[in-house]
Amino acid sequence: MSWIANSPLTYLQQFCVNVIKCGPIPKHIAIIMDGNRRYATKAKVEKAEGHTRGFDKLAEALQWCLELGIPEVTVYAFSIENFKRSQSEVDTLMKLATEKFQKLLDEREKIMAEGVCIRIIGNMSLLSQELRKLIAEAVLMTKDNNRAFLNVAFAYTARDEMVNTARKVVEGVEKGAIEADDVDEDLISRCLYTGDRQDPDIIVRTSGEVRFSDYLLWQISNSYICFTEVLWPEFCIWHLLACVFKYQRCYNDLKKNNVKIIKNERVKSFVEGLEQEKLMQLKSYI
Ligand code: FPP
Ligand code: MG
Repeated sequence: MSWIANSPLTYLQQFCVNVIKCGPIPKHIAIIMDGNRRYATKAKVEKAEGHTRGFDKLAEALQWCLELGIPEVTVYAFSIENFKRSQSEVDTLMKLATEKFQKLLDEREKIMAEGVCIRIIGNMSLLSQELRKLIAEAVLMTKDNNRAFLNVAFAYTARDEMVNTARKVVEGVEKGAIEADDVDEDLISRCLYTGDRQDPDIIVRTSGEVRFSDYLLWQISNSYICFTEVLWPEFCIWHLLACVFKYQRCYNDLKKNNVKIIKNERVKSFVEGLEQEKLMQLKSYI
């Protein structure tokens, strides 16, 4: 399956989407796609098939988000902790990612026509050269698209992200690019892998697990949390609509995410420098 599904909604689904769209729509949803292996056991298929169906579900979920007018989605596709799984499962997940990024490049017209910008958040130095190259090509190819944003957390944990951020900030101070007094919440936010993106309004975790597993710990401080029992490959549009509906019900009580604007010129040029470095790094992978 491609990265964005194209299956028509039923009349009832379309009607409910239209009703939900009358209320406030989140600008950004983060998803922990959990339960692929339990689904595989339940459906009596191989684990690898569970993950493949997990990817197919991601493509469907992206279509539903676009239909709902949610412009940004961040998904947890591979945690650094997942490297501790059996070598054969790690290989399976890496092979799946390699195939899917290759497919994305093969179908470039499609993703460019959809206007989707794909970004990777994570520690790319932990990935194979082949996968790094494919990811870099996909990210660079789509970097100017702005109709929708898909952030794929791959080889990611929030703690690794924070360590990486602290290193960048310390280096900036040591080199004199910024001063110690410049370090504040806005600067830290901009130095995270998520950079200038807005924080998620909702975080969804499937499969009944009630924890964050080191996912976007800085970014979800004001997000509406939605834990749902369904296993990820069985997630359907009704689950998504239920999450958005619950978010709408407490919308007035939620602290709104502000756009990250940096006014200090010194900090601005430091952050721009980091963005350039990221770009150069990606180019070096090709
Ligand atoms: C969690 O279920 C799922 C994962 C660790 C992998 C998620 C990956 C995908 C859905 C494919 C995405 C690929 C790309 C390229 C974006 P689990 O394995 O923890 O299952 P369990 O909780 O039932 O054990
Ligand atoms: Mg799991």
